[in-house]
Amino acid sequence: MSHEIPADVTIKLLLVDDEVNITRALRRLLMEAEQYEVFIANSGRDGIALLREEADIGVIISDQRMPGMTGVEFLAHARDLVPDAVRILLTGYADIEASIAAINQGAVFRYLTKPWKDDELLQVVGEAAGGFWLIAENRRLNALVAKQNAELQDWNSRLKQRVLEQTSQIRAKSDALAESNQRLRGSFSATIEALAGLIEMRERRAPGHSRNVAALVTAMAIKLEVPQEQREQIRSAGLLHDIGKISLSDRLLVKPVSELDTKELKKYQSHVVRGQAAIDMVPALRDIGVMIRHHHERFDGRGFPDQLKGEAIPFGARLICAADMFERLLIQYPESDSFDSSLSELAQQWGKALDPALRTALEEGAREVYSHLSLPKCWKAKSPPKNSRSVCSCGTIFTAGPGCCCSSRAPSLMKAASRRSSVVS
Ligand SMILES: [Fe+2]
Ligand SMILES: [Fe+2]
Repeated sequence: MSHEIPADVTIKLLLVDDEVNITRALRRLLMEAEQYEVFIANSGRDGIALLREEADIGVIISDQRMPGMTGVEFLAHARDLVPDAVRILLTGYADIEASIAAINQGAVFRYLTKPWKDDELLQVVGEAAGGFWLIAENRRLNALVAKQNAELQDWNSRLKQRVLEQTSQIRAKSDALAESNQRLRGSFSATIEALAGLIEMRERRAPGHSRNVAALVTAMAIKLEVPQEQREQIRSAGLLHDIGKISLSDRLLVKPVSELDTKELKKYQSHVVRGQAAIDMVPALRDIGVMIRHHHERFDGRGFPDQLKGEAIPFGARLICAADMFERLLIQYPESDSFDSSLSELAQQWGKALDPALRTALEEGAREVYSHLSLPKCWKAKSPPKNSRSVCSCGTIFTAGPGCCCSSRAPSLMKAASRRSSVVS
């Protein structure tokens, strides 16, 4: 089978014959093909020497009858020296049997008889050259693939190493970031708690109000399956919701809301806007500021400061509004059944001041947060003083008399606020 040799490829041929006329004639014939570079040797010994000097001989044509070394013997040597070269034997009719034997032993690819036919010779040499080129090309491509594979493997392993190094750098940076984030969160929470403490110092009518509201909105948010990040924001807003009251006068803060004149009421109501303004310069607190601004909006649109209505009121603000109202109702009912009384009074506000969708969350959340209000019978029996709210040293908050169920411990009392006439404003 003949294989096309690309036009820009030259194949080296070696002609070996002791008769100069023959090699000359062959050379002339083969040079016409323009794809061959022809080398000549006049004996097997010279042929071997030339094969040792000249690399990449692709086709060898040798006469059989030569002094010193026959063509078959020379081609057998040539096979050892250049195994890829295609070997052709030129022989007379008398040597045909020896030529066939040489082919069978693998020393010779083809034989041509003298005198040869030019076309036939050119065709046989063309096939031989094509076969050689195919093998050489195959070998070159295999070597190229092997080289590229090795490079790829090397590149891969360097890339892997780089990825590993970068991954470990990224991980280290991410750990450092997480740590500093954690520290920031810690100091952020501590700052919020400290601010809540300041607010409560001024809010004498309702000790613990900010923390109680924060606890209740958190419990409600959990019931409503609010994602943790948003839940933490709502809790912070619960802690800070009345921060604007810091700027109000003591006189205004202790006066019942129902007794405020128009001017005083307006000032009192400004605590929501003042609260938002107070924290607005801190970007991380801006969403919290929005909840603070709207925590006195009513679901029916009759609240303040913007008379927002329904779901136009930010979700967190609606939670705070409900928790805030419930918290203040508890103070309004200092009796031992304050919890149930507050819940039933609050029931009138669902759909009016409060978002009815939050009712179950508030009632269930309040039961958890204010479980301590299920007071022991002993306190209920002691008819506690009106308008008081106490905190025992054991941590129990109750609305009963000057002691706690854990009677062995000395109670510390925190006098509570005076009765509030309006819990909605
Ligand atoms: Fe408020
Ligand atoms: Fe409040």
